[in-house]
Amino acid sequence: MEASSAAQTYAQMIRTAFAAYQARFHVITRRARERFATRDWHGMRADATERLMLYREVIDRTEQRIRQRVGDRLHDKALWRHIRTAYSRCIADRPDAELAETFFNSVTRRIFNTVGVDPRIEFVTTDSDDSSARASITHVFEHPASTAAFAHDLLEACALSGPFRAPSADARRMARFIDRALTAQGQTGPLRRAEVLRPVFYRGIGAYLVGCLQVGDTMVPLAVAVHNHPEGMAVDAVLLDEDAISILFSFARSYFHVDTHHPNALVRFLKRILPRKRIAELYIAIGYNKHGKTELYRDLLHHFSTTTDRFVQAPGQRGMVMTVFTMASYDMVFKVIKDRFDPPKTTTRRDVKERYRLVFQHDRAGRLVDAQEFEHLRLSRRLFSDDLLETLLNVAGSTVHLDDHRVIIDHCYVERRVTPLDLFVRTQDEADARAALLEYGDAIKDLIRTNIFPGDLLLKNFGVTRHGRVVFYDYDELGFVTDYDFRRKPKAQTHLEEMSAEAWFYVGPDDVFPEEFQVTMGVSDALMEAFVEAHGELFTAEYWTDVKTRIQEGAILPILPYPPRKRLPHRRKIPPDALTTPAYAHG
Ligand SMILES: Nc1ncnc2c1ncn2[C@@H]1O[C@H](COP(=O)(O)OP(=O)(O)O)[C@@H](O)[C@H]1O
Ligand SMILES: [Mg+2]
Repeated sequence: MEASSAAQTYAQMIRTAFAAYQARFHVITRRARERFATRDWHGMRADATERLMLYREVIDRTEQRIRQRVGDRLHDKALWRHIRTAYSRCIADRPDAELAETFFNSVTRRIFNTVGVDPRIEFVTTDSDDSSARASITHVFEHPASTAAFAHDLLEACALSGPFRAPSADARRMARFIDRALTAQGQTGPLRRAEVLRPVFYRGIGAYLVGCLQVGDTMVPLAVAVHNHPEGMAVDAVLLDEDAISILFSFARSYFHVDTHHPNALVRFLKRILPRKRIAELYIAIGYNKHGKTELYRDLLHHFSTTTDRFVQAPGQRGMVMTVFTMASYDMVFKVIKDRFDPPKTTTRRDVKERYRLVFQHDRAGRLVDAQEFEHLRLSRRLFSDDLLETLLNVAGSTVHLDDHRVIIDHCYVERRVTPLDLFVRTQDEADARAALLEYGDAIKDLIRTNIFPGDLLLKNFGVTRHGRVVFYDYDELGFVTDYDFRRKPKAQTHLEEMSAEAWFYVGPDDVFPEEFQVTMGVSDALMEAFVEAHGELFTAEYWTDVKTRIQEGAILPILPYPPRKRLPHRRKIPPDALTTPAYAHG
């Protein structure tokens, strides 16, 4: 075959594989509407897992096929330059061209095991801009007669399939809530216009309508949470501020299922209402995590090329398994698995990676930090202080290498930086420390409800986000609640037993004694007292066992991604658990 026609053929192969990936992605994503309508929460969960595995599966197969077809010329870079050019032409008019480029990169990086980035065979920057599609992805409501009229029209126009139980009453309540919240925000102008994304955002038991309001001259972001009760759908909550919607889109939550053929336009719209979120995070939030990673990579290289700042060890206690660095001017951390783990850690590198994978596939509940896995990262030597570099080479020499003026990192996780909770509690004033500690209890409870036992509950493994939320980031001891036995410590019968330093009763490898958590917290008496008052049950085996039993019985214990005060007043009395209970009757 002549070079250009061969290139054309291979480019077509990759394009076809990408199209097939997107087709399957859309099929799974579109199911969310039906799952929500039929309250099939287990099905929704299975879909989420299936979609998370899809990319790797398709890339594996594509790589294999390409290897077979291209044969001897597999590593011929000149050929790949032609393939890249041909590919570029055949994806140009796709509205998701930027995702197609990332897909191509995934294939070539596999084949070449590329270190750093090779711009001859990869797409480095994208000029994809599908913003002209904006009109087609939003509903616009011009000059609504009243907030109630807008709310009414929105519920009627939105693409939720099932009927609302009481649409007029919901619209009225929603309008009252919005008017009150806007007044409280000092927004007194008229509601001139609203623009709401047509695709519905589904996740867990929730469906969300996302958009913005123009109130007077101000833009106010909007998210409307809808639940489906046995009696029909109902608006549960309305979010009207950037912080609340940012928390809904948090990097510690699982990805939304949003059916759109214009991801670029959708992400740009989201960026307008959430200007502090990176483009990368927004792609990730809608399930295009691989492309999000591409965007993140571009963002970090751009930052590093424009700063004189240097990497430092991440503040907080040094890890026994991970060595972690960050940069003051960049809010991400880089986590490298150490060559050897400090005792008493007995885990292996493979096991650590397995836990990060588990977290990737599991419901993150707003409490587990999402990590992007990078391979063959190449960074300029000048970004590293001598001290840090020495440490990295010392404790992770099998992963970190020095090559001329570059530092090569064979494998690392990149994730959002938070303030380690132990540092936070020590350095903030009493009121903030107390609030964070109570959040920590809530975080543990949310994790338990999603069947996650963090393993290592020490404060140093949790962090505080810029919104004051507490999240967990140390995964090497994480497991499923249902795999453990939560036991009460038996009372010592004899003096000898009591004096014994070793446990005198049998302790199995899966035994956990919640009473012991108390000892390891290491906070002041006053803080401990506040914690026990709010979350004392966490120190009892009964609490853990109760949740464990409910999970084993097949219950889904939902977590609302907003505080109760954001719920419409008549919804506040409905506990989240009721939302998944078929027998629940409306009060
Ligand atoms: N996302 C993060 N944000 C800020 N600091 C972090 C983050 N992840 C880890 N760290 C810092 O790195 C240290 C070690 O990381 P950790 O994930 O706890 O690994 P290890 O299993 O080795 O303890 C933590 O104690 C903390 O100081
Ligand atoms: Mg740790």
